[in-house]
Amino acid sequence: MSSYVHGGTTAREVARLEKQADFTASFTFSTLELQPGLRVLDLATGVGAMGVRLLRACPGLHLVGVDLAAAQLAAARHNHPELPVLRADATRLPFPDATFDRVHCSWLLEHVPTPTKVLTEVHRVLRPKGLCQFVEVDNETFGTTPACPSVTEVMRRLNHAQQQGGGDPFVGEKLEAHFAAAGFERVQVDRRQMTGNRRDPRFFQAFIDEFAEIFEGLDESLGTEALPLIASAISELRGLWDAPAGELRYTPSIARAWR
Ligand SMILES: C[S@@+](CC[C@H](N)C(=O)[O-])C[C@H]1O[C@@H](n2cnc3c(N)ncnc32)[C@H](O)[C@@H]1O
Repeated sequence: MSSYVHGGTTAREVARLEKQADFTASFTFSTLELQPGLRVLDLATGVGAMGVRLLRACPGLHLVGVDLAAAQLAAARHNHPELPVLRADATRLPFPDATFDRVHCSWLLEHVPTPTKVLTEVHRVLRPKGLCQFVEVDNETFGTTPACPSVTEVMRRLNHAQQQGGGDPFVGEKLEAHFAAAGFERVQVDRRQMTGNRRDPRFFQAFIDEFAEIFEGLDESLGTEALPLIASAISELRGLWDAPAGELRYTPSIARAWR
């Protein structure tokens, strides 16, 4: 695992992941083709935020969450006792071949040095015709109007910290290649630009909050000397709301692949 650039399992980070899960689920669950009775793996379940929302979206799933980090799983067990979880490395899953009908995974591949190894394991544990879905970052697509210099600098440092730790903040643009290298023959990658502006005030506010809260958790990975820069970036982000033609843009990558 590369070093985790976000803020561990502090109460603030757990609350952020729970809130982020509502945001992520709103544009990802509809394409997972869930039905009661399916065997589902939530890979890199973290604090269980997406796993428990999968259960709520489709009661009757046989779902298990897996994560490498004991502290994340302790938070998952405490906050979501209804969600079965176990500790394992995504590159060496403790399941027989063809165990799962679905594999769900959000925001993992940016953190691992060998995405293809993870996907090879997912290919192995999926049953024939089973579906996996990965929601991933591509920080190259981040943009604001007007330009925000402190925000740009925080993103530059975040990307650098992630790369230094062995991760890849631009993994979204390489998903087709990673899935093909892992043996998947049928892959669809959906890249839909998300644009926040005053035309949809609720979404714009949620989108600004999402990034502002990510930035708030970056003091650990960027160092305390970055605190003034982070504060300035958060203020620039929040200022987009009142800026003429203010806009925030990001394009997550959602890959669906069939075994
Ligand atoms: C950004 S969090 C995402 C958590 C969750 N999927 C969500 O959307 O809330 C990334 C998670 O990947 C886990 N992780 C990183 N490398 C891993 C690996 N090799 N195997 C399993 N989990 C891993 C981390 O411990 C962390 O919980």
